[in-house]
Amino acid sequence: MRINLFIACRLKFLTFALCFLTFSGFAQTPEKNGAYLSIVGDCISCHTAPSGKPLAGGLKMNSPFGYVLTPNITPDLATGIGSWTKDDFFGAVHNGVSKKGYDLYPVMPFTSYTKVSRADVDAIYDYLKTVPPVSNPVQVNHLDFPFNIRSSMIVWRELFFKPGFFKPDPQQSSVWNRGAYLVEGLAHCAECHTPRNLMGAMESSKLFSGAAVDGWYALNLTSNIATGLGSWSAQDIANYLKTGSYPGKTTVLGPMEEVVHNSTSRMTDADLLAIATYLKSVPPSSKLNGADRKVDATKLEGIRLYVDNCSGCHQSTGKGIAKVIPPLAGNPSVTDPSGFNIVKVIIRGIQARDGYIPMPSFAAQLNDEEIAELANYIRTSWGNSASANVTSAIVKKIRANPGI
Ligand code: HEC
Ligand code: HEC
Ligand code: HEC
Repeated sequence: MRINLFIACRLKFLTFALCFLTFSGFAQTPEKNGAYLSIVGDCISCHTAPSGKPLAGGLKMNSPFGYVLTPNITPDLATGIGSWTKDDFFGAVHNGVSKKGYDLYPVMPFTSYTKVSRADVDAIYDYLKTVPPVSNPVQVNHLDFPFNIRSSMIVWRELFFKPGFFKPDPQQSSVWNRGAYLVEGLAHCAECHTPRNLMGAMESSKLFSGAAVDGWYALNLTSNIATGLGSWSAQDIANYLKTGSYPGKTTVLGPMEEVVHNSTSRMTDADLLAIATYLKSVPPSSKLNGADRKVDATKLEGIRLYVDNCSGCHQSTGKGIAKVIPPLAGNPSVTDPSGFNIVKVIIRGIQARDGYIPMPSFAAQLNDEEIAELANYIRTSWGNSASANVTSAIVKKIRANPGI
């Protein structure tokens, strides 16, 4: 699922869009200003179509298995994010979950944006509320099966995504911390400069070591002398990000040209020096923060079973669909201490009632081990904190005794 490759597929039709941004002006402290922060995050590059209105979406991002069109993030009520609250917006940028009720594909770089502070996300929201609303309905998803099924994201998220803010390192200077905050978060530099695994996630042990993107190669940004930035001074890096060139050495190309044009050349000198200071400290071989996170392998089978059998109705978030399908998150019939209730529902199904459609029986599709795995997964996910105490012996007994 190499969905992240999209990230490279940006186009260069943004002159109009940028004029617009430039005229919108910054307040006195640009670092706290939503217009400035949206430039650091380079939202406009992806959320603007060739010759389209700024931020109204529609840019096509290709992948080997179909494409997505970026959504409209102007404040239009019907087709943009005009009806979104600050919390809805934070849900998308920090958690990668759309107000529309589904998980976003990581082509929207929420894997990095999750580190951005709440205050900065809110400032971007306030700024987006001030741009002219544009009516532009966009149908985002044009991926091939099975990638068009959003619930495939549930596995991806479980494996590769953990929401969480940037944590400053008290051993380092405030300049370094500002640089780390920008590079790892809003400026999402790692998204292009870090190699990805077959599932399209950044390889956490190879942070900034260089990667192919869209027919280009995003170079090594570690302090490796031969292949990285080891021989560049911090000022050389800052100048390059400001002007797109390191005279006598290199000039930007391809996707980086766009990053410089739309984003880094518009950053303050202080922020560019902070970014450079942080990059100079990245050792030749470094890891993504949080790389030691253990994936709970015991949950994988449960996730797979849930995606295949249940998420179509109960949703990947476990939240169900209001008035049609009940939620499994926070549902006491799922978390009863014995675990019997959920097993009975899976085996026997439920007749239609209270306006709900019927819940089908899965007795024929799932064996005892599978039902136990699935029940335990649901009992311990989305904030449910029951114990994972359902065994195949319990399932077997309930299956054999319709009377209990
Ligand atoms: C690399 C390209 C890229 C960049 C950069 C990017 N986005 Fe996105 N964004 C996307 C794509 C593609 C989607 C749709 C993903 C999906 O539906 O699965 C999206 C979805 C969203 C959504 C959810 C909209 C909806 O209707 O569900 C919001 C909100 C959003 N982006 C805001 C932002 C903001 C704010 C920024 C800048 C800080 C930003 N994006 C930068 C590509 C990008
Ligand atoms: C959309 C993908 C993308 C993003 C995002 C991106 N880069 Fe790049 N970068 C590239 C590519 C591709 C190259 C190689 C082409 C070139 O040298 O111009 C490159 C080259 C560079 C170089 C020149 C390295 C050399 O040895 O010549 C530097 C420095 C750099 N990027 C820093 C950054 C920083 C800092 C960020 C975050 C603010 C960033 N990049 C974000 C794609 C990206
Ligand atoms: C075709 C849609 C559909 C599918 C697929 C589905 N469910 Fe349900 N589920 C429902 C509906 C509708 C209800 C509520 C039925 C009622 O109360 O009349 C429900 C109820 C439940 C309940 C009881 C909730 C309560 O509050 O009483 C549990 C537990 C449950 N489902 C688990 C699962 C599991 C586990 C799977 C996957 C094996 C699954 N469901 C698949 C539609 C579905």
